[in-house]
Amino acid sequence: SEGVITIDPGYKNTGSCESAITFLDGEKGILRYRGYSIEELAEKADFLEVAYLLIFGELPTKEQNDKFHNDIKAQSIVDDDVRKIVDAFPKTAHPMGVVASLTSALTAFNPSSVNVNSEEDMYKAIVKILGKFPVLVAWTYRRKFGLPLDYGDNSLGYVENILKMMFSQPNACYVQSKILVDALDKLLILHADHEQNCSTSTVRITGSSHAGLFASLSAGISALWGPLHGGANQAVLEMLEAIKADDGDTKKYMAKAKDKDDPFRLMGFGHRVYKNFDPRAKIIKKAADEVLANLGVEDPILDIAKGLEKEALEDQYFVDRKLYPNVDFYSGIIYRGMGIPTDMFTVMFALGRLPGWIAQWREMRLNKEPIGRPRQIYVGATHRPFVPLDKR
Ligand code: SDX
Repeated sequence: SEGVITIDPGYKNTGSCESAITFLDGEKGILRYRGYSIEELAEKADFLEVAYLLIFGELPTKEQNDKFHNDIKAQSIVDDDVRKIVDAFPKTAHPMGVVASLTSALTAFNPSSVNVNSEEDMYKAIVKILGKFPVLVAWTYRRKFGLPLDYGDNSLGYVENILKMMFSQPNACYVQSKILVDALDKLLILHADHEQNCSTSTVRITGSSHAGLFASLSAGISALWGPLHGGANQAVLEMLEAIKADDGDTKKYMAKAKDKDDPFRLMGFGHRVYKNFDPRAKIIKKAADEVLANLGVEDPILDIAKGLEKEALEDQYFVDRKLYPNVDFYSGIIYRGMGIPTDMFTVMFALGRLPGWIAQWREMRLNKEPIGRPRQIYVGATHRPFVPLDKR
């Protein structure tokens, strides 16, 4: 006989696994990677150290860190056949579609599932994707502007090289901006993992069939794309632009967000777990002020964002539902200040989340978790005989 099956839409009250990677406390607004607070990591670590910490469980020693970076650099060449695929995309192709397709193409080059019993095999797959994914991101950006695809410079830091691969111009001297490097490094750290969110759960369940790491990541990229999830950072900027075009009428958008007949939601607000301020939003809001001030950028969109936040924090509907700004509310403002186009924001989210997806996939496989296969409660037609076509 069937055991008791409980339906839990969106798995709001369902735990899918035990994990030692990331700890969230939604009531207190706490986020820790392997026990270290996000506030300390964002201030004191760099993105590659945090990637190592998430994946292997400890902050790397200097020697481990150097080896990790060198092994990643050794993998930062992408097969030229993949580059030809980039050229096949129209410039108007959505960057998330391009980067998901290119990651799937890499899967064709790495079809087999990793032998998880071999730490060496697993390590090789990990440094391979960490080396190649930033190239795919940079190529996606350059395709959009018809720029030659650049391989960057392995003498640079990991994040420095990403910015160079994206923004260097042919026959022009590229001047690295420490402000942008530090801002992107911090943003990527803040996005690096977030326990069992939608896209991470997608990576884990895809990997539970023993699909390869690259195939599981490509599935995660597609799940992240949705505007209710990682796609929210793009949707926030589009919303703020619409408000700006509407004479900054934030009250109209607040009313729309509360109107049950209107599907519009205030993008960048609310969270399944955080019922208090998203700790990442606090850090990003402060960083947005600093980056724009350092870049000497006056962005009216930032003022509209702050006005909207103030209104929402004082609005009873939002207070009753514990709707606070989340990680996506301010991140787009920094990306925009860095010259990254709106439809590339979720690609930058994927770049940050990559180490978290890898860490979670590795943990699921090392824990030998069974294939994810939930049950259902059937509510369809009862048994009935076939009706021939001429009798229908
Ligand atoms: C990310 O899970 C993660 O950790 C994700 C993430 C990560 O790092 O991986 O943190 C990244 O995805 C952040 C969230 C980005 N998404 C958005 O900003 C889109 C707007 N936010 C909402 O769609 C919503 O808040 C979610 C999707 C984030 C959470 O949805 P839930 O937990 O399913 O909550 P719900 O839809 O059941 O809403 C509860 C109530 C409802 O009202 P009532 O039916 O109770 O009257 O709150 C309302 C909702 O209508 N509500 C909103 C709202 N969010 C929820 N109303 C207006 N605007 C909003 N943004």
